[in-house]
Amino acid sequence: MNFQQKVVLISGATGGIGAAITRRVAQEQCKLALVGRREDQLEALTRELQQQQRECVYKTCDVKKKQDIEETVAFIAQQYGSIDVAILTQGILVPNPIETFDTAIIKETMDVNFFGIVYFTEYLFKVMKRQKSGTIAAVSTLPDKRGVPGWGAYGASKAALSWFLESLRAEAKLKYNINVITIKPGSVQTPMIKDLPRRGAIPAETAADIIVRGMKREKKVIQFPFQQVTIVRLVDLLPPATYDHLPMDRQKGEGYPIVEEK
Ligand SMILES: NC(=O)c1ccc[n+]([C@@H]2O[C@H](COP(=O)([O-])OP(=O)(O)OC[C@H]3O[C@@H](n4cnc5c(N)ncnc54)[C@H](OP(=O)(O)O)[C@@H]3O)[C@@H](O)[C@H]2O)c1
Repeated sequence: MNFQQKVVLISGATGGIGAAITRRVAQEQCKLALVGRREDQLEALTRELQQQQRECVYKTCDVKKKQDIEETVAFIAQQYGSIDVAILTQGILVPNPIETFDTAIIKETMDVNFFGIVYFTEYLFKVMKRQKSGTIAAVSTLPDKRGVPGWGAYGASKAALSWFLESLRAEAKLKYNINVITIKPGSVQTPMIKDLPRRGAIPAETAADIIVRGMKREKKVIQFPFQQVTIVRLVDLLPPATYDHLPMDRQKGEGYPIVEEK
């Protein structure tokens, strides 16, 4: 796949991975459309790219609101006349300790991490089906197959997302020439995990480079870094009785909040 002169929508462009992808993809001479809620950051990044003679627009959008997404896709399609590639990176990671189990955390996480992508897909499909071409790449997570203590909200949203994307991939390609790509990062140094240090976390710029190279090679699933992929996929094979004996604190990870029952 070639990014040159393509219209590329990036959601979560204000985030660690999204901003790094934006700067990396800008080197490919494409036309950029940045999406997120924090307007000051969208504006600053847009100005930075325009100063480098890149074509770039931005649109504020809260992905919890379906109408925001509809308006965002319409705005970008109107600005540029097409949307060739969408790299959807928005996400939240909120611990939900069992002592204070809170359904609202699960609902909000599903709204942002899962339904935010589902809504984008609905409106992007309308544009891309008309074009008979396009690429939708969305960021799930590497450990998307087994439940992790404390991280049920996040894990459920990402497992649903991986399943959703895979269920679309073959048919979207066959019928409409639309590529659907699932991005599955291991730990990446970004604001999302700044209070949750992870051994082996890679810089966001490295992650962005792997993602863009994977997309250019038309990979269907981009999972990285290699060492974490090996460990996670081996752990996936453990039978439930063995899996349940993995040390819980290690699975929750450093920085996981310790709370008292309310
Ligand atoms: N960092 C990691 O180790 C890691 C590992 C695996 C997967 N991931 C995934 O990678 C993606 C990017 O994460 P990151 O690490 O770059 O996190 P981050 O720095 O916290 O960025 C999160 C992004 O999501 C956007 N966002 C959150 N809620 C939103 C909403 N309601 N509407 C619109 N945008 C919203 C934020 O933008 P605004 O606040 O401006 O709206 C921000 O741009 C996420 O999907 C995350 O789950 C991260």
